[in-house]
Amino acid sequence: MNIKKGDLLEFEIEKYAFEGKGIAKVSRDIFFPGQENDEEKKYVVFVEGSYPGDKVKAKLLKIKKTFAESKAVEIISPSPERVNAECNYFGTCGGCKQQDLKYSSQTKYKQQQVEEIFPRMGGLKDFEIEPILPSDIIFHYRNKMEYSFSDKRWLTIDEIKSGEVVDRNFALGLHIPGMFDKVLDIKKCYLQSPVSSKILNLTRDFFKTRGVSIYSTKTHDGYLRNLVIKCSHNADDLMVNLVTSSEDDELMKEYSSYLLKDVPEIKTIVNNINIKKAAVAVGDYEKVFYGSGFIYDYIGNYKFRISANSFFQTNTFQAEHLYDTALKYAELTGEEIVYDLYSGAGTISIYISGKAKKVFAFETVESAIADAHENALLNNAGNVEFITADLYKSFLPIVNENSIPLPDVVIIDPPRSGMHKNTLSDVVKLQPKKIVYVSCNPTTQVRDIKMFTESGYRLVKIKPVDMFPHTYHIENVALLVRDK
Ligand SMILES: C[S@@+](CC[C@H](N)C(=O)[O-])C[C@H]1O[C@@H](n2cnc3c(N)ncnc32)[C@H](O)[C@@H]1O
Repeated sequence: MNIKKGDLLEFEIEKYAFEGKGIAKVSRDIFFPGQENDEEKKYVVFVEGSYPGDKVKAKLLKIKKTFAESKAVEIISPSPERVNAECNYFGTCGGCKQQDLKYSSQTKYKQQQVEEIFPRMGGLKDFEIEPILPSDIIFHYRNKMEYSFSDKRWLTIDEIKSGEVVDRNFALGLHIPGMFDKVLDIKKCYLQSPVSSKILNLTRDFFKTRGVSIYSTKTHDGYLRNLVIKCSHNADDLMVNLVTSSEDDELMKEYSSYLLKDVPEIKTIVNNINIKKAAVAVGDYEKVFYGSGFIYDYIGNYKFRISANSFFQTNTFQAEHLYDTALKYAELTGEEIVYDLYSGAGTISIYISGKAKKVFAFETVESAIADAHENALLNNAGNVEFITADLYKSFLPIVNENSIPLPDVVIIDPPRSGMHKNTLSDVVKLQPKKIVYVSCNPTTQVRDIKMFTESGYRLVKIKPVDMFPHTYHIENVALLVRDK
């Protein structure tokens, strides 16, 4: 009998694969009867929701020539590396997919992933991989949470079993993985501080009792889109940013007073108005309803202003270790010209400014650059210059037109999609002695580093820094040097 999609099979999980899936290796003829079995090259089955050491029953989702995809439906015998997840929404929510794996195993597998991906995907060898730096704090570590409103509430198995009558037309929480219009109604989240959950619940109560409409991703009608909460970790600041599809000042004023009555520690409340259809929690413009519209936090001894739409590393505690690693790799003596590409609110530039002669920071988001100017003043970093540049295009004309001196070191920290090839080839043309590449996506980082190594650079070392406990996301710092 041929095995087909939807069938249930038992597997023993041997390995951990990219993006947190387990791998089972089976004889080929189980899937393709009559085909020759190669003991060296077994057939690979990826099993979502499993870890090495598990024996599971899994449902087959896809069967290809070289591999199959499946999802665990029953853990027959658990891996000794499993632990009980703290969160009630675990298993349904897309937030922390690995809360049921020991933290020491999470970092062990992230390290293994880095060791495998760089040689396998980039053909890179003869470089050092330093041990991963674990996060000291593994719960409540995020300083920013972005919740969504939805008129399509998704229920957990427990919510269904409880028999309780629920209003499925109102949800405020996190998305179900892969289903962008379905949202779990979350009351307590382990990623951000308890006060964040309090704001989440107050916000739901306020709008639900008033019958305020939710923006529909289908019809594009409705008011409520996202709730973004930012809290500083090394200061007592809290920001609430309600993202809506239109303006309603009276409602925002009422909401602000309602929140402040119960959470007086809130420092600022803003309303981002997003009139675009795209499901992003960034407004076309912003209105401030309480406070200054900014909060402040510290990374190491440096103080930073954070606005609603500028990027700030989401794990403040680990950001210091990440920046220390980048600084160590850059080996600055105080004589160097440094370029900081994708500089956000100028945090890396300012963090390293005391060790460089001059830093030139390049970024495209205007509000981030405005924060960066303010941050340079706050930290007396007079040797940092901020330049507006879209690094999707060549930035060499900006360097030439402004007679910016050539860099000794280039620090790169791009978004998940990595570098555009124009930017990459510009960096090569600038011929810095060192490139320090910080990335939250090893796949694009390997792709880009491979191109650097084909253009006269050598990969020296990499250090993973765990910025995202309980998720499979990996952050690395890599050092490349120009070959003589
Ligand atoms: C991973 S963040 C790094 C920010 C900063 N280095 C830090 O540590 O906070 C990536 C940054 O790239 C910026 N960015 C995205 N696309 C860009 C583009 N086309 N040109 C320039 N900057 C861009 C984003 O606004 C964001 O600030």
